[in-house]
Amino acid sequence: PMTDTTTPEHFRIETDADNIAWLHFDKSDAGTNVLSMEVLEQLDLHLQQIAAQCPRGLVILSDKSSGFIAGADISAFTKLKTGAEVMELLNTGQAVFNRLEALPFPTVAMIHGFCLGGGMELALACRYRVTRDDPGTRLGLPEVRLGIHPGWGGSARMVPLIGSIKAMDLILSGRSVDGRTGKRMGLVDQAVPERHLGSVARKFILDAPPPHQASFVERLTNSAPVRPLLASVFRKQVAKRASQRHYPAPYAMIEVWRKHTNDKAGMLKAEAESLASLVTGPTAKNLVRVFFLQEQLKALGKDKTYKPKHVHVIGAGTMGGDIAAWCALRGFNVSLQDQAPERIAPAMARAFKLYRRKLKKPVRITAAMDRLMPDHTGHGVSKADIVIEAIFEDADVKRTLYKEIEPRMKAGAILATNTSSIPLEELTPALQEPERLVGLHFFNPVAKMMLVEIVNGESTSAEVSAHAMTFTRQIDRLPLPVSSTPGFLVNRILMPYLMEAVVLEAEGIPAALIDKAATDFGMPMGPVELADTVGLDICLHVAEVLAGHFNAEIPERLKQLVASGKLGKKSGSGFYEWK
Ligand code: NAI
Repeated sequence: PMTDTTTPEHFRIETDADNIAWLHFDKSDAGTNVLSMEVLEQLDLHLQQIAAQCPRGLVILSDKSSGFIAGADISAFTKLKTGAEVMELLNTGQAVFNRLEALPFPTVAMIHGFCLGGGMELALACRYRVTRDDPGTRLGLPEVRLGIHPGWGGSARMVPLIGSIKAMDLILSGRSVDGRTGKRMGLVDQAVPERHLGSVARKFILDAPPPHQASFVERLTNSAPVRPLLASVFRKQVAKRASQRHYPAPYAMIEVWRKHTNDKAGMLKAEAESLASLVTGPTAKNLVRVFFLQEQLKALGKDKTYKPKHVHVIGAGTMGGDIAAWCALRGFNVSLQDQAPERIAPAMARAFKLYRRKLKKPVRITAAMDRLMPDHTGHGVSKADIVIEAIFEDADVKRTLYKEIEPRMKAGAILATNTSSIPLEELTPALQEPERLVGLHFFNPVAKMMLVEIVNGESTSAEVSAHAMTFTRQIDRLPLPVSSTPGFLVNRILMPYLMEAVVLEAEGIPAALIDKAATDFGMPMGPVELADTVGLDICLHVAEVLAGHFNAEIPERLKQLVASGKLGKKSGSGFYEWK
């Protein structure tokens, strides 16, 4: 390829009085550092230059506030058409990281924020890793979530460093850890508060202590006789979450690891070859597409000026209780209202369970519980920036409530309804300021379902809608804007699918067979089981709303089951018997 003299510079070197080279990575025209072919080629040139200078040591750091390096440039990656093009990118990255690893002086990756995928692989090629100690610092190899696995030496370097059990747990799940956990695992040499980060990096260069070594037991987990046993354990663990047919990447990773651990060159080669065959397959293509769709939704909620603090939730039932708990988990002050204290108590108990699972540490659990205030008299209404209504699905009851609370709401506060079927236009007549009403349609279970439909009524103001999307991002959910039409988007797609399954079942096809066809196809759960899980009364209700609008028929079988009190999982029986 021709050398393009206009290629923007992504790196900057500073050499200080101790003769330490500080290589600043600051990708031009991007808010986040990612690794592309162009970046790798520049990095390679800089490393050659630095090597020729013979400094005391090298510190690699990022000038971006978002973090160190978020990974490979995925958009560029997906444009690669042939296996040969993919191999070229993989070989280039491997060669650059090999060069980095072979430098004859100490090297430190100085990490804050995201250090993921290719960024983690680069950090692993350094002799030491020091990180900022805060929850925002995330280290990991999340490639499996895109249907691939590391290919720039991530597994070849992480496995020998911390042993197969911990390394493969990170690689196969794609989960990330903070600096302190990384330190405990041996992945990181030191995790310190931000103000010490630079001096700690310097100290590693000046002292040049022996690099971290895996323990005896960790090395044992990498040994040839142990690997076949561990491989079957790994396979079983992965199978619980993802079938090999639909998600080949983790299984391919296990094979690479089983065959080549302790043979670095062989493992690097196998990583690249295996990845090249995955990346052009349908799973990776589809997961990458999902990734970009998610990025698109994330970008909708980026208004940095909107900073709500207090959320008031009315209705402490299935949805309201969990919405309130989730908002408090994400740092908001939340008041939770219902008709009586005893209706709020179960929601508080569920919140405690959620926090125990998510936060683990008692101080953090207590802090989250402190942010969640039971408030049966509704004091919080007048303090809230956002009021979320999740009471019974009845337009009259909702209107009565709105008339009562609106006069007490702060100027500019948003009123959000979690209704799944009432058009906003039926609710606005109760309001003085109809432009403040927006739908925030969460899905059940709130803690698991990423999507929140942002329902725009005819009178919802653009500002309220934008704020609702920003708030949705602040609680780490994905905002999907929809207009106030029956079923919005998700139920409009889901219901015909569920109803067709109900019809099939009524025609005599066993429920388990229908579900198996769906799970074989790749659905996480079959439609009949899903209907039972959602609750057949809720399905019937949504089906009625949609059927009225689209002139469709509701299967008799569904009506009969609901009429006879068979509501699915929650009543002990529905299409299935639940024990
Ligand atoms: P639920 O019946 O579990 O809870 C409703 C709660 O609201 C009850 O605790 C009730 O005491 C309280 N409530 C009723 N009127 C009240 C009032 N005037 N003041 C204070 N509290 C009042 O209902 P669920 O399932 O949580 O649904 C709530 C809303 O969320 C509905 O609009 C529903 O359509 C919607 N939704 C439900 C989903 C689900 O899967 N259950 C999914 C998405 C939305």
